[in-house]
Amino acid sequence: MSFRWGVATSAYQIEGSTTADGRTPSIWDTFCRTPGAVANGDTGEAACDHYRRMPEDVALLAELGVDTYRFSISWPRVQPRGLGPVNPRGIAFYDRLVDELLARGIDPWITLYHWDLPQELEDAGGWPHRDTAYRFADYATLVFDRLADRVPVWTTLNEPWCTAVYGYADGIHAPGRRDFPAAVRAVHHLLLGHGLAAGLMRGRGRDVQIGITLNLGQARPATDSPADRDATRRADGLGVRMFLDPLVHGRYPDDVVADLAGRGAVLPVREGDLELISAPLDVLGVNYYFDATLSAGGEVRTGPLTGMGWPITPEGCADLLLRIGRDYPGLPMVVTENGAAFDDVAGDDGFVHDEDRVAFLAAHVAAVRLAREKGADVRGYFAWSFLDNFEWGHGYGPRFGLVRVDYPTQRRIPKQSAIWYRETIKSYRDGS
Ligand code: NOJ
Repeated sequence: MSFRWGVATSAYQIEGSTTADGRTPSIWDTFCRTPGAVANGDTGEAACDHYRRMPEDVALLAELGVDTYRFSISWPRVQPRGLGPVNPRGIAFYDRLVDELLARGIDPWITLYHWDLPQELEDAGGWPHRDTAYRFADYATLVFDRLADRVPVWTTLNEPWCTAVYGYADGIHAPGRRDFPAAVRAVHHLLLGHGLAAGLMRGRGRDVQIGITLNLGQARPATDSPADRDATRRADGLGVRMFLDPLVHGRYPDDVVADLAGRGAVLPVREGDLELISAPLDVLGVNYYFDATLSAGGEVRTGPLTGMGWPITPEGCADLLLRIGRDYPGLPMVVTENGAAFDDVAGDDGFVHDEDRVAFLAAHVAAVRLAREKGADVRGYFAWSFLDNFEWGHGYGPRFGLVRVDYPTQRRIPKQSAIWYRETIKSYRDGS
């Protein structure tokens, strides 16, 4: 397969139409209605109205020159309430989206779970509850059986760390719970859901690739002190090794298990779980945003920052890809998200000269190239995001898109970065 160039989105962040065609509420619909949960009281009700504007959006994707589009399926749209048969009107949308993409020569890459759990499943206990993993595997096969004839790459979960930690420990994402031991149970059940779903999809015998996407970054100690180094080890344990070790090596790291026990939390592993979780992956999706510098007192942020205050650390991207190649050999990688929010200023014509975003993306594309030259098995790069969209707890304030969305009119206006991306893809394809 040649190197893939793409852009990524997720269902709740762009689709809108949250009550159309039999869709039931997800935990994000509920969370958005909770006073104070999301900035400005924003919700995904309208988002980018992509559900109704899909054909025009796919035409715009073709103009960007990408060969791959990574999007997610809304679980409560295709299996309302998280139970029972497929909802024909819900799946019809993704059927049309896949056909539209293929007609334009763009490969669809599906993410099955990008954070929008059907509310009923949360009411029954959510990810801390083991049954949710089985519900997820059931849903995954429903979608797979309808679309695997045309979709070459299947990602089970997007960033399970965020689902577990932000959703169940920190309470800053849906469902907004603050219960660390529950978050740790969620980690294991997310991974189990991945393993069950991957096994069932694999069993269908189709010629597709199956993987998972993690948010990964390197943790670095602020100083050489033992306390800072220990904080770094812990962060790397929870952020990187707690996921990649079971997925690749079939076991949770001892130091992580001990750290969790010290905080009163246990990974609820049952016999056979780790065999399911560690079945070989065809591709690891790496969402890279930044490296963290850690001291015993917490994260230290210095140097250039994005509009959201995230450090700009492109060299860390190369280091990370090389490190994964070393510690987890034989795992092909794709950067499934990379991008930044900046304070975009639109001219009267709506055009955004986002030189800061261009510089950010260019530095990361160069880092990916460097990592490949040094031997990392990286097979693609996808920018986050195609469109400005609903940035979860931050609402519509942060803009990550290559294409501006003027929300009152839903007009799409490609930014300078969109033009740059098209040219970059072209020049890489031409071999320069
Ligand atoms: C990761 C998530 O997958 C995506 O949904 C989010 O918008 C971006 N990072 C930016 O925060």
